[in-house]
Amino acid sequence: MRVLTGIQSSGTLHIGNYFGAIKQMVEYQDDNDLFIFIANYHALTSLKDAKLLRQNTIDAAITYLSLGIDPKKSTMWVQSDVKEVLELYWILSAYTPMGLLERAHSYKDKVAKKITPNHALFSYPVLMAADILLYDAQIVPVGKDQIQHVEITRDIAQKFNLSHGDLFTLPEFKTQENIQSVPGTDGAKMSKSYGNTIDIFSTRKTLKKQIGKIVTQSVALEEPKEYENCNVYNLCKLFLNEEEQKELQERYKKGGEGHGHFKIYLGDLIWEHFKEAREKREYYLNNLDEVMEILDDGAEKARTIAAKKMKIIRDAVGIYR
Ligand code: ADP
Ligand code: TRP
Repeated sequence: MRVLTGIQSSGTLHIGNYFGAIKQMVEYQDDNDLFIFIANYHALTSLKDAKLLRQNTIDAAITYLSLGIDPKKSTMWVQSDVKEVLELYWILSAYTPMGLLERAHSYKDKVAKKITPNHALFSYPVLMAADILLYDAQIVPVGKDQIQHVEITRDIAQKFNLSHGDLFTLPEFKTQENIQSVPGTDGAKMSKSYGNTIDIFSTRKTLKKQIGKIVTQSVALEEPKEYENCNVYNLCKLFLNEEEQKELQERYKKGGEGHGHFKIYLGDLIWEHFKEAREKREYYLNNLDEVMEILDDGAEKARTIAAKKMKIIRDAVGIYR
């Protein structure tokens, strides 16, 4: 199966990205043809600092490699290395009803959060459709918030196919079963746009600071505490098996420990979980040439597929030179 996914390079990656996307990608690469790219064109919708975008792009690549993406098994590249995607984006735009984009939750949410929308933010799902359809992806692993974008992709592909025959493969989205939306420090969905993240790679000090921001109920130290709706508990849960979750629940119910203690525990869990990845990251940071070579190889492979597909699509719509 061809599995494809993209990750935005518009900020430091957080544990929501890990549990919602990266972890399942790493698992996919063993039995599938995994295509994975850094969506730097998409990042432009919100990031206007060139230096930062450049830095984030390479940092995202290093992060993926550190967290287990194996370039021998997978194809990894930077979105902007394959210009065909922008051509397909335009062609698909001509097959995208305005209403389809007007109904996009992610766009509506950002507007509701008072983020001033630009046209790229509005047409974001069309570029995403191009990312997916250009490579005939069959499976697209995404977080819950991106499901609708894959559905929009299917709608656009169907509209195109109706006019030109079955030229595009209809993709299926895949979300991780039990982990859907990872909560941020304020209990809302963890997102870099909302400033409520806990980063995968930070110093112990920053980690402590980010965890310190987690909103908790105010309950006296000796009193029993509720774990069900506790933001700290919900984050700990991601790193614990069932038995360990039970043990933590007991600690909540018993009283005698404050949320501060549970925060320290969460800090230890996160630090330990990403220990090996931190070491790999150090390696890649010191061997940037190796990272560039991996991205060059990936881009070359992606471009070959994209060029072939675009020839067919251009022919179908009558763009002949
Ligand atoms: P952000 O919301 O921080 O901007 P992105 O939109 O770049 O994150 O998301 C990158 C990937 O990580 C997507 O597959 C997305 O669904 C997933 N993801 C992001 N935040 C979360 C979260 N809080 N819970 C689960 N998955 C998430
Ligand atoms: N929009 C996705 C996100 O924010 C990133 C993305 C861009 C993507 N193009 C894609 C994901 C194609 C899957 C397939 O997470």
